[in-house]
Amino acid sequence: MNDASTKNDLERPSLVIDNIGQLVTCAGDRAGGPESALAIVDDAAIAIVGDRIEYAGPAAGLAENDIDLGNARQLDAGGLLVTPGFVDSHTHVVFAGDRSAEFAHRCAGASYLEILQAGGGILATVRATRAASEESLAELCADRLERFADQGVTTIEVKSGYGLTLADELKMLRAIRQAADSSPLRVETTLLGAHALPEEYQGRREHYVSLVCEDMIPEAAESGLARFTDVFVEEGAFTARDASRIAKAASDNGLGLRLHVDQLTAGGGAELAADLGALSADHLEEISPEGIRSLARAGVCAGLLPTSTLFLRLTKYAPGRELADAGVAIALGTNFNPGSAMSENHSLTLGLACLRNGLTPAEALLASTVGAAGSLRLEGEAGCLEPGSRADLVVHRATDYRHLAFHLGMPHAAVVVAGGRILRESGPLTSCQG
Ligand code: NIG
Repeated sequence: MNDASTKNDLERPSLVIDNIGQLVTCAGDRAGGPESALAIVDDAAIAIVGDRIEYAGPAAGLAENDIDLGNARQLDAGGLLVTPGFVDSHTHVVFAGDRSAEFAHRCAGASYLEILQAGGGILATVRATRAASEESLAELCADRLERFADQGVTTIEVKSGYGLTLADELKMLRAIRQAADSSPLRVETTLLGAHALPEEYQGRREHYVSLVCEDMIPEAAESGLARFTDVFVEEGAFTARDASRIAKAASDNGLGLRLHVDQLTAGGGAELAADLGALSADHLEEISPEGIRSLARAGVCAGLLPTSTLFLRLTKYAPGRELADAGVAIALGTNFNPGSAMSENHSLTLGLACLRNGLTPAEALLASTVGAAGSLRLEGEAGCLEPGSRADLVVHRATDYRHLAFHLGMPHAAVVVAGGRILRESGPLTSCQG
């Protein structure tokens, strides 16, 4: 038992949240199924010491565990729902320029790949991003991170991929780092040098892949600016052979591998992700039954990004139900970017994961928290509320977690805490379930 009298201030809770009507820790036993993994506690409380969770459980446990409330700030959650902060495992938050005209063309019938092949799409954002200063990109990134915090996102993966020269990719990564350093969100960075073939390399894809493998990856790894690398494996972008070369360079330089696969055309991308030992295979609208089995066998996480399926007006959504039934770990992301998902709305992603990917609300919440944390190798650190994990949580304007998906697109976050600090507190703390 703790001896309160001998505790110094560093060990005493700095923040206590009580009167929690429904606490969903996402720290339960996953082998017992989604409901057990959610580990729901009614009438609960949380104690935070510094940036860590000290206690998360029944309210009575504060006294039973002799937790010294001392001078802790106390926050009354008003009987509402508390979950871990959302983890967004796939975004492209840093970019310059505007693609609303392209959006209008797509609404009139033009396809995403046709626009890219005609030098627009990603390549239009590349031109704008190359022309932008590191400072202005950092500011854009910081503003967008603020909007993610409004949604209750406390950990976010951000990719480069609109520079496509060594200097411009490093500029993007430094801009992300600069924005991350002044943000309370946890930001995990991915080098996406192989996002599109830049115009100056048309007809010389092998040479460009050499630049990614021999210059970009080693520099990004050595500077510590990226933890992961990613490849857009798609017709008109990069091939399985390119991805294999990049995977080897990533492994030689200690970067984890993430892949964009089977998004627009069926290319055996999930099987490739399994062969290459990727951490995450994302998109998967066109995954095959063999691809599902491969991900399950190899323990590769499936990254579902239903907002982009909607935004690209595709009719086929990734088969979340089949993936979950096959035992594949699932992560959700908004895929925020200017071309295929101009939306930071995490609640919309949660709802679409249920309505279009076939997950249950419990599975979607797990995929937005502990599942996404797993795909970023942050197990036990983010996406769950248990002693020792980072104190990232949200008080929602709801009393039942199913409302996060059911009340479609509703930003429920009323209070957002990241690293033990209250970032948002927009009262009154009342439910909008009515
Ligand atoms: O994940 N598919 C490739 N990359 C992004 C889209 C980027 C863009 O269009 O600017 C995606 O959907």
